[in-house]
Amino acid sequence: MTIVNISPNEYEEFRRFLQDACGILLGDNKHYLVTSRLNRLIREFGIDSFGELMRQLKSARNNQLKERIIDAMTTNETLWFRDRYPFEILKSTILPELSASRPKQLRIWSAACSSGQEPYSISITLQEYATGRPGSLPPLTQITATDISATMLRDANSGHYDRMSLARGISEERLARFFIPRGEKWEIRPEIKSRVAFRELNLLQSYAALGKFDIVFCRNVLIYFSSDLKRDILARLAQSLNPRGWLFLGGSESPTSYSEAFELVRTKEGVVYRLKEVTGR
Ligand SMILES: C[S@@+](CC[C@H](N)C(=O)[O-])C[C@H]1O[C@@H](n2cnc3c(N)ncnc32)[C@H](O)[C@@H]1O
Repeated sequence: MTIVNISPNEYEEFRRFLQDACGILLGDNKHYLVTSRLNRLIREFGIDSFGELMRQLKSARNNQLKERIIDAMTTNETLWFRDRYPFEILKSTILPELSASRPKQLRIWSAACSSGQEPYSISITLQEYATGRPGSLPPLTQITATDISATMLRDANSGHYDRMSLARGISEERLARFFIPRGEKWEIRPEIKSRVAFRELNLLQSYAALGKFDIVFCRNVLIYFSSDLKRDILARLAQSLNPRGWLFLGGSESPTSYSEAFELVRTKEGVVYRLKEVTGR
């Protein structure tokens, strides 16, 4: 088996390509990782050199190759009810406040949803909140879940999960209540799934077609982007929120150095961000 080596110049070229395509900044120390992941795809697609790989990627003719390269380079790590506190804040603070004014609709965006655990955890939280509080959720309650990875979105949309993935955050009680056993897998129940609509979206591109949201989850993805991109994405997330809308970021992410549009709200469960009343945007 021949290994295609990647020279420092070629590595630099690939780094630029990946940053332009999806915003991900590869560190200098990822040369070995990139070589081994690209070699797998180079073999699979019958490509004989790195130059040919870049030619096919840039020609925009081979979309499947581009999709697979982005999949291979992104981190899709996720779990159910990740960090717990966002879902607790949703239940204890945000949903009571939002539902008090009896709005006609509630729109939530899971902006880098990976294999679906985040939007489905949100939908389960909504279901648990509404149980025992009939009529508390607006008639039109929707979760839009987006990701750059078509592969992740296909998995998410199937709504089927194996034991190992469910063991990462789903209690036995929730398993019995919100999933149906299907052979080796479990399928998310239709009442949880029907609230979630999946679609492909690159966070580097426009969000205008999605409309406005009351709550945005954009968790554990900004960490991969440059400061300029973080600034740009946070500004556009602010524009995608209704007045006083809510923003959840990952535990190690904060808008503080990149945006003045948000204020920090501390709750007993953890921290969430909220669009300021007068943003000066
Ligand atoms: C680490 S996962 C986070 C999943 C989930 N939000 C969570 O916190 O568990 C990061 C996700 O961001 C997606 N991603 C990376 N770059 C992206 C981009 N430019 N636009 C949209 N999604 C992107 C990846 O495909 C991956 O599914």
